[in-house]
Amino acid sequence: MHKPLMKIRAALKLLALSVTVVMSMLVSMTSAASTADDVAEGKKLAFDRSKGNCLACHAIEGGDLAGNTGPPMIMMQARYPDRSNLSQQIADPTIRNPNTLMPPFGRHGILTDTEIEKITTYLLTL
Ligand code: HEC
Repeated sequence: MHKPLMKIRAALKLLALSVTVVMSMLVSMTSAASTADDVAEGKKLAFDRSKGNCLACHAIEGGDLAGNTGPPMIMMQARYPDRSNLSQQIADPTIRNPNTLMPPFGRHGILTDTEIEKITTYLLTL
């Protein structure tokens, strides 16, 4: 092959590589930003008396007038290494305990799947 052509190919490969690197950096930056938003929105939904209203039964750091019908939301990351167990508990706690007082937020349509995922993301920061 011609020398100049090989140089062009090498330059193109380098260009493609740097585009990939920049793209993946951008993707990780946006996902970090959306996680921060999810945490803030999740907290809002959890505290909102007409949405999650989790404070009615659970003590959560930063929340006022919390009830104690349910356990405090602490050490969540350590207690829920598998986040799907946590979102399932919110979506339908009757799977784990058919007699629970906790409302099945997903099954009863009180919260959407997206809202439950945001609350899960927030709880895992506690
Ligand atoms: C009416 C009271 C009530 C409300 C409202 C409520 N819970 Fe619960 N929750 C309970 C009770 C009681 C338990 C104890 C476990 C059981 O009953 O099976 C529990 C258990 C849990 C657990 C598992 C126990 C643990 O310590 O990990 C999680 C997680 C949880 N609740 C999250 C939430 C979230 C998030 C919300 C709001 C979206 C919420 N709960 C709203 C009553 C409630």
